[in-house]
Amino acid sequence: MIYLDSNATTPVDPEVSDAVFASLRRDLGNPSSSHLAGQKARETIENARREVADFLGCGSEEICFTSGGTEANNLALIGSALSRGKGHIITSVIEHPSVYNTCRHLESLGFEVTYTPVDRDGIVSVEGIERAVREDTFLVSVMHANNETGVLQPVEEIAAVMKSKGIAFHVDAAQSVGKMQCSLTDAAIDLMTIVAHKFYGPKGVGALYIRSGSLLKPLLFGGGHEKGLRPGTENVAGIVGLGKACQIAKRDIRLRVSHTLRLRELLFESLKALVPDIRLNGHKSRRLPNTLNVEIPGVASHLLAERLSQDVAISTGAACHSGERTPSPILLAMGLSGEEALSSIRLSVGKDNTEDEIRGAASVIGAAVTALRQSGS
Ligand SMILES: Cc1ncc(COP(=O)(O)O)c(C=O)c1O
Repeated sequence: MIYLDSNATTPVDPEVSDAVFASLRRDLGNPSSSHLAGQKARETIENARREVADFLGCGSEEICFTSGGTEANNLALIGSALSRGKGHIITSVIEHPSVYNTCRHLESLGFEVTYTPVDRDGIVSVEGIERAVREDTFLVSVMHANNETGVLQPVEEIAAVMKSKGIAFHVDAAQSVGKMQCSLTDAAIDLMTIVAHKFYGPKGVGALYIRSGSLLKPLLFGGGHEKGLRPGTENVAGIVGLGKACQIAKRDIRLRVSHTLRLRELLFESLKALVPDIRLNGHKSRRLPNTLNVEIPGVASHLLAERLSQDVAISTGAACHSGERTPSPILLAMGLSGEEALSSIRLSVGKDNTEDEIRGAASVIGAAVTALRQSGS
């Protein structure tokens, strides 16, 4: 099995799993307990918090650990909304369901939401967002890299505009952090979501960066963990895994970017040689280095995925929607027809893929496409 689904999740790095296992064995105390075992577990968490902050370029006190990207996005959006009571939010039509459905929920509670469109390349317009701003707009939420196309959004420009207007800006960076250079140091981002399992950390742990002074209310109530914003005994080993994944990403990011970019281009070229009519979905270069979303005209992507399922791991849309045969709303929003969207696949390479794997995957995919076309399906 050649794994080309790194945007769904990545394999845990052995350095990360070693750190996680060591923590599971070592950190027996509850981090809230005052005895030595508790103090040790607390120290472990705070060390990991420093690693995350160091990687992102922010203060440790600005990191709030969560159970992953979904929770971090919910905390950012609902937490901001609860702190204001009413008002208007701007987001885009290509957000992950954990942002989109949260916005729908907020609409049901009386908040108003504008969903701004994207162009054919899958890019949100800064001017479009600026035009949508109202007197009562208190939050803008735009993802950094789209999970299906990898297309990068102009978050720095949006951040600058929102800063000048005094509107909070949330970025769902679940897909970009750990896959490319992203630093908070220069951008006026107020809230940012990160997810460990998208960059070789364990599943079920993530964090929300919360710029000091941001207005946010908790969604859960309990003890005072994470400064009262996210109560519940911490997932110590998971947090250790996130910290380690950040430490490794900081060390290896350049190599990761150049390696995945080279493999992705090799994959595209090899596929094009076998299936000359494939079409790239999304901007040609403003993309995550690892992501390739292509339309294969006349080939139903779910049949292709089914045929490949034992040999090459691919996705026919976001992993969360796999199995459903409704066209990807993201590709539709970019102007693809239903048929074009249903003939599109996402291939996302990772740091551990090799050139041989890429060539092998291309030839297996090419053969499957030929077979499907010959059978007329
Ligand atoms: C852009 C984006 N945001 C948020 C998430 C949610 O992360 P999780 O499923 O770990 O909660 C994902 C996961 O696919 C994602 O791709």
